[in-house]
Amino acid sequence: SIPILTSVASYRKWRQKAFEEKKSVGFVATMGALHDGHASLVRHSLVDNDLTVVSIFVNPAQFAPHEDLTTYPRTLPHDLEVLAALSLPTGNDLRTPSAVFLPSVHDMYPSGISQNVADQKGTFVEVKGFSHQMEGQTRPTFFRGVSTVVTKLFNIIQPTRTYFGQKDIQQALLLRRMTRDLLLSHPTPENLNIVPIARDPITSLALSSRNAYLTQSERDIAAPKMYAAMQKVKSHWESGRNKADSINEACAYLEKIAKDLAAQDFTIDVKLDYIEMNDPESFEVVPDVTTRTIWEAEAKGRPVILSAAMWVGKTRLIDNIILGDK
Ligand code: PAJ
Repeated sequence: SIPILTSVASYRKWRQKAFEEKKSVGFVATMGALHDGHASLVRHSLVDNDLTVVSIFVNPAQFAPHEDLTTYPRTLPHDLEVLAALSLPTGNDLRTPSAVFLPSVHDMYPSGISQNVADQKGTFVEVKGFSHQMEGQTRPTFFRGVSTVVTKLFNIIQPTRTYFGQKDIQQALLLRRMTRDLLLSHPTPENLNIVPIARDPITSLALSSRNAYLTQSERDIAAPKMYAAMQKVKSHWESGRNKADSINEACAYLEKIAKDLAAQDFTIDVKLDYIEMNDPESFEVVPDVTTRTIWEAEAKGRPVILSAAMWVGKTRLIDNIILGDK
């Protein structure tokens, strides 16, 4: 079975040995409740590195006081089974995850941690100017919590390479910027890899630990409509329609879906939070009148992030598509 390291000291000893043996260490940070999306990150790490470490830590600092910290799914035995089942044949041996890092809240936050920003004491990392757009609009303290915990994790794990999901595209790009701004060497910004979104093979719903909150009809019928709406925006935009029209059409589609679902089944309640197009560098909204052609000229070929968040009952789901990626 995979060694579980629960203290910073035991991990440091393990890491020291890897340094001495000149072995590369790949790192996948998670909050547990592992699914095929997490597994895909781990597989990428197994391919690229001699050793792979997975952390499981539900980070209080990235949950606002009204959010789901206490109910967030905690499924450690299942998570360990998922990791134990992952292996990659290499030469003569089978490469499997090498260690699971499972720290306590106290180890990660020696000065303590409150979910209430006003009550916090100690050291925090903020990526200023990039934490208030997109997901940061609805969750203004979220990225501060993420950049703080990931800095701590990078300082402990000292990864050669690390893997983040496109599922949380703003998180991945922001962390890459953070590694650059803080001049980190483990990992360097180039060694922060972004892995495509793993989806349900039948409904195309982006896999997420929070999908566990959904009822079967919410998951199989309502939730996939967000990605369907995004696909509509994508095809309109790519056929030369302007942004506002493409997005308005998708909003109208989702409103109709919401009405139909409410009429059919009293318990399915869907509400769009936002659907928008943003620049992958500034995270700013792409101007309203911009057609794809004009955008491409302005952005010198930079792609556009089309992202959305939607409430299905009490569950908030996010998804994105990169438009014009080369
Ligand atoms: P968590 O939601 O557990 O996700 C861990 C990693 O898995 C993230 O990089 C996320 O983008 C990736 N991931 C989740 N669903 C995915 C999918 N369907 N396809 C591909 N990758 C997917 O993101 C976090 O945890 C936390 O914010 C963390 C970075 C661990 C900091 O606390």
